[in-house]
Amino acid sequence: MQIHKSIASLRAARAQAGRVAFAPTMGNLHDGHIALMRAGRNLIKADTVVASIFVNRLQFGQGEDFDKYPRTFEADCKRLISAGVDHLFAPDEEQIYPQPQRFHVTPDPEYASILEGAFRPGHFRGVATVVLKLFNIVQPDVVLFGKKDYQQVMVLKNMVHDLALPIEVVPLDTVRTADGLAQSSRNNYLSTAERIEAPRLYQQLSKVAEAVRKGEQDFTKPCAVALAELERHGWKPDYLTVRRRSDLQMPEKPGEPLVVLAAARLGATRLIDNIEI
Ligand code: PAJ
Repeated sequence: MQIHKSIASLRAARAQAGRVAFAPTMGNLHDGHIALMRAGRNLIKADTVVASIFVNRLQFGQGEDFDKYPRTFEADCKRLISAGVDHLFAPDEEQIYPQPQRFHVTPDPEYASILEGAFRPGHFRGVATVVLKLFNIVQPDVVLFGKKDYQQVMVLKNMVHDLALPIEVVPLDTVRTADGLAQSSRNNYLSTAERIEAPRLYQQLSKVAEAVRKGEQDFTKPCAVALAELERHGWKPDYLTVRRRSDLQMPEKPGEPLVVLAAARLGATRLIDNIEI
């Protein structure tokens, strides 16, 4: 695996890379990230698989965990090598933001101010801006994103469409641990007791999904039960709601494909998860 710290070095490698599959990350890699890399090789059958590691200051709000976000570069490189990644783009902040960024990609509030966006103002603007920049640097043919960050995939799919980028976006299923907890770098923040409690988020989402699959028409009912159950076990939920998959707005017509999404704080750690219904 070649490691590129500079845009120039990555661009030089791009010239001979053929069809490129690209998976951007913020590092501290776990099985969820690695599944994206393996899909680039086995599912997409790209000529070249490119990963990036960059903790993007722009997408963190004030008081969020930018400074303490886990940085584990050596271990990440080992995992990427065993997943068969060809090129790693690992720029420092100087490369990506040599001066304060003055042009941004601002998603419509309809996408960016709901759900995660309501609790993390500016988050999707920061994500869209860095991702467009990474796309311009890597020039991928196919990009791989995890459904774990469901709204992120929705926003980025729409960015690619609205800005006519010649890129295919491939969403991949959430990778979970044996007890159902979605893999996340933020799981590292959990205490032992919290880690035991953490799978409840997925369990409650599963219950809502099951109730809706069984025909419950009033989605607010199972969501209220799930919220109460989480609160009873010490969680502080931000939202837990059933939305239509296409744009994450409230469902309007019967038969629309749905997803149930939640974000909740367990102690000092904020976890998100979702299940397609
Ligand atoms: P990060 O949180 O590092 O995630 C990188 C990619 O891995 C994203 O596409 C995310 O959805 C996916 N991912 C994370 N956990 C997963 C899991 N358990 N199963 C499957 N996929 C999972 O998302 C970001 O970084 C950043 O916002 C980024 C897109 C890199 C822009 O800075």
